[in-house]
Amino acid sequence: MEAAEGRRHVRLVTYRGSEDIPLLCSLIERDLSEPYSTYTYRYFLDSWPQFGLLAMESTTSGASKTAEGEVRDECIGCVVCKLDRSRHGVLRGYIAMLAVRHDRRQSGLGTLLVETVLMKMHESGCEEVVLEAELSNRGALALYEKLGFVRDKLLEKYYLNGSSAYRLKLKMNRRSDSMLFADMDEDAYT
Ligand SMILES: CC(C)(COP(=O)(O)OP(=O)(O)OC[C@H]1O[C@@H](n2cnc3c(N)ncnc32)[C@H](O)[C@@H]1OP(=O)(O)O)[C@@H](O)C(=O)NCCC(=O)NCCS
Repeated sequence: MEAAEGRRHVRLVTYRGSEDIPLLCSLIERDLSEPYSTYTYRYFLDSWPQFGLLAMESTTSGASKTAEGEVRDECIGCVVCKLDRSRHGVLRGYIAMLAVRHDRRQSGLGTLLVETVLMKMHESGCEEVVLEAELSNRGALALYEKLGFVRDKLLEKYYLNGSSAYRLKLKMNRRSDSMLFADMDEDAYT
């Protein structure tokens, strides 16, 4: 990816530790009416760090023949999930948070984050994945439905502000090791 100010490179990294929490908070809270507490981030990321992904964009600027360019590293997207057994013994993934920075939307990054975490869950034996998305969130609903999620349930007045949500569900095919995500490479988005 080339930008006016220099060269951009985006890579996905797995959650590295609590120093990543401020990066995630600043990205996610721009789109929330009520902020999550630090406890909520830690609940997911301390127990399932392997299912927390950050999209890190490095921008090299000011490079010339004589001087090294300055590198800026920013978090422009993330996904936070868990994987545990449901009451019925099903190994179920849950996508708790997904966000892409406004100026980097609609270029496939949200899809890449979700596909990559789905692949990781599949490798861990996950049988199904669920999440909630607000009824009015056309972007998120379109993204998840393109990936095969279906509307499982309408959750009336699910959020504190009174708005409703869909519970979305994806059944994973345990018979196929390659599944849908065989071609994915964590560093492929450049
Ligand atoms: C939802 C979100 C993560 C999508 O990220 P993104 O990087 O823009 O998504 P992608 O570029 O991978 O888009 C995938 C598909 O979703 C659909 N889509 C994305 N944004 C859309 C929008 N605003 N309106 C309609 N469809 C949209 C498109 O169908 C797109 O497929 P296409 O490229 O073939 O047209 C991003 O809009 C966001 O961060 N929103 C705020 C936080 C949020 O709502 N999180 C989800 C909570 S459930």
